[in-house]
Amino acid sequence: MDRRTFLTSLGALALGGWRWNRPTSFYPEILLGQTYPYELPSLPYPYESLEPAIDTQTMKVHHQGHHASYVSNLNKALAELPSLQQVPLEELLARIDKLPASHRTAIRNQGGGHWNHSFFWPLLSPKTQEPSLALQKRLSSEFGSWNAFRGQFLDTAARLFGSGWTWLIKTPAGKLQIITTPNQDNPLMPYAEVQGTPVLGVDVWEHAYYLKYQNRRTEYLSALWSLLNWEKIESLIG
Ligand SMILES: [Fe+2]
Repeated sequence: MDRRTFLTSLGALALGGWRWNRPTSFYPEILLGQTYPYELPSLPYPYESLEPAIDTQTMKVHHQGHHASYVSNLNKALAELPSLQQVPLEELLARIDKLPASHRTAIRNQGGGHWNHSFFWPLLSPKTQEPSLALQKRLSSEFGSWNAFRGQFLDTAARLFGSGWTWLIKTPAGKLQIITTPNQDNPLMPYAEVQGTPVLGVDVWEHAYYLKYQNRRTEYLSALWSLLNWEKIESLIG
């Protein structure tokens, strides 16, 4: 089924007394394309391969503990909602405010957690990469310079209060913008300050760094920056 046919059928899907309407303003790109039952994806590299920036124990707990728990709890919530089981996760999150109130918070937190971490792992790479000149030029044109972009992104992540994520998104108008979301929210959700397609996401929960860095979040962020998979990020920007 192509995307247009799929979305047409989705638009006609009646869900428990209300209709699943296609969004009028924001149309999420289907980046993961997963539906229920969700599975914990394998990491694209060994746990120990991000040492010393991210230690092996943190990677194991983060993936096998935290991420696995989001998957399991998301499946529990959707097991009770058969009519939503074939809707891609991106679509559920883009219209989270339209989901049944009884399950909305569970899908927001657990579904957001699963989507965010599935998106995050491939953005890291054990192989140190330099952003291409084309990518540097693109980001410089939007943020003034490459260093301005780096500074603004890391500063935004460092200042995020509590647990959440820092994102580079592509807006529906094609602009690149840095935003944050609390908890496991993400830019696909209507709760985001600007809805858009994520092209980079950084986990700023303490569980991502506390074992090694304790309260030194800026050190974690600097180390993480050295692991970013710029080739992947550039392909997402398109
Ligand atoms: Fe996390």
